[in-house]
Amino acid sequence: MRLGTVMSFVFAAAGIAVLVKIVLPPSDTEPLRILSSGQCLECHAGVAAEWQTSHHKFAYENPEVRKLSNNFANQECIACHAPRPVLSFEPGERVLARQSERGLGVDCLACHAHPEGGVGTSNIHAKLDAPCRPRLVERMSSVEHCAACHNQHKTVEQWRGAPDNLKGNNCLHCHMPETWREGGRKGRNHSFRASHDLPSLQSAVTMEAAWDSDGAWVSLSNHGAGHNFPTDERSRAADLQVRWMDAQGEWSLWERVHRFRDPYRDETDLTNTQLPAGETQRFELLPGADIQQGEVRLLYRTNPYLEDALASELFRMELAR
Ligand code: HEC
Ligand code: HEC
Ligand code: HEC
Ligand code: HEC
Ligand code: HEC
Repeated sequence: MRLGTVMSFVFAAAGIAVLVKIVLPPSDTEPLRILSSGQCLECHAGVAAEWQTSHHKFAYENPEVRKLSNNFANQECIACHAPRPVLSFEPGERVLARQSERGLGVDCLACHAHPEGGVGTSNIHAKLDAPCRPRLVERMSSVEHCAACHNQHKTVEQWRGAPDNLKGNNCLHCHMPETWREGGRKGRNHSFRASHDLPSLQSAVTMEAAWDSDGAWVSLSNHGAGHNFPTDERSRAADLQVRWMDAQGEWSLWERVHRFRDPYRDETDLTNTQLPAGETQRFELLPGADIQQGEVRLLYRTNPYLEDALASELFRMELAR
């Protein structure tokens, strides 16, 4: 064979190789053997930094949880605070505790590890040949995903019953807002801000108050929580309080006007007074005849017995006759 003919075969073969390279998806990255969430932190530094500040990361170390579970002597409490991957369970099935790396709480694997290997994502543009081998799982961005742990006290049912214009598409809409990742890729914030964050709490409700021809009143509207306010954890309490200034210019002590709360199971004398999404409640205030001035405020307590000074003050307004 002449050299030219040989060369043309070589070029043709190379051409086919280039074509194959374009037509077939590149698979030049070795699949990662997924063993620990520690691996994810190395490649997804942005997500990891957000998750480190979240209560998901904190779930097994949280001193409040340790106190109430008798340092996890109550093993029932481990299930959602150090769970196995939720994608290994059917929607609605109870998640179970894992044995390893419990200190990482609700970790990357708990939400992403796929029972057949790789990681779950609902992003249809995901790079399926990335080392962690993303797999399309629609449930990842549906309320069913969060419901695996968050429907114990009916937060997901409350969301289902909320007015459509206040629900967002799903839980992610408010709790995982869109953000940008390196390389211009769209991502979702993993810090899960909610009741331990003042701006989130303030975005849930609006307080109004006045002293007009109807007398003195205060009202609260839930237009920003997408579920009851407060929700989920039964220990949360939001209190409307009032105080009055007497003729000598002395303030009275703060008095409770109303408490929004879902009581513990053993508090059988109390009923659920949470404020559902889309609802407004208005309360008449009854100042004495000689009172000219007062103040109302909304306090949020992560624990119903927490003293006023340790609660978050969401709003305060003045009242004047
Ligand atoms: C060796 C680096 C590496 C490791 C380790 C790794 N990933 Fe990835 N991952 C990537 C790359 C690269 C992408 C593709 C990113 C892109 O589209 O630009 C990706 C994509 C993803 C996606 C899909 C993102 C999308 O497009 O919506 C998810 C979810 C994900 N990784 C989760 C994880 C989790 C959970 C772990 C730990 C088990 C992990 N990854 C470990 C490199 C890695
Ligand atoms: C595997 C169980 C599990 C799944 C799945 C899960 N969570 Fe959580 N989540 C928890 C636990 C446990 C806590 C409480 C941790 C703590 O404070 O000790 C928590 C806390 C939270 C908080 C409260 C943060 C705060 O400041 O108190 C928010 C908001 C939240 N999760 C949103 C979500 C959303 C949205 C989803 C779905 C994308 C989701 N979670 C999926 C278990 C889970
Ligand atoms: C079915 C899943 C599940 C189980 C089982 C579970 N938890 Fe939780 N826990 C959660 C979720 C979800 C949250 C976050 C809800 C919220 O912030 O309102 C949470 C939050 C908490 C908090 C509030 C943490 C904080 O910083 O405010 C405490 C305390 C707690 N759990 C204690 C316990 C104890 C004690 C047990 C066992 C008796 C237990 N949990 C069992 C899912 C669970
Ligand atoms: C329209 C926005 C919005 C949507 C949608 C939404 N939330 Fe919230 N969520 C909030 C706000 C604001 C707060 C803080 C006020 C409060 O605690 O009610 C909050 C609080 C929470 C908390 C913290 C409660 C606590 O006691 O610490 C959890 C858990 C939670 N949401 C879970 C969910 C889940 C699960 C879904 C989906 C079914 C969801 N949220 C949908 C806005 C939203
Ligand atoms: C409480 C559940 C939960 C935990 C914990 C969690 N994720 Fe996610 N993650 C999600 C959801 C939900 C999405 C968005 C839905 C989708 O597209 O799959 C998402 C999206 C992502 C994405 C693509 C979007 C982006 O922001 O880049 C990556 C990558 C990712 N997660 C990696 C991780 C890593 C790494 C960890 C641990 C540090 C982690 N996730 C922990 C639920 C979780």
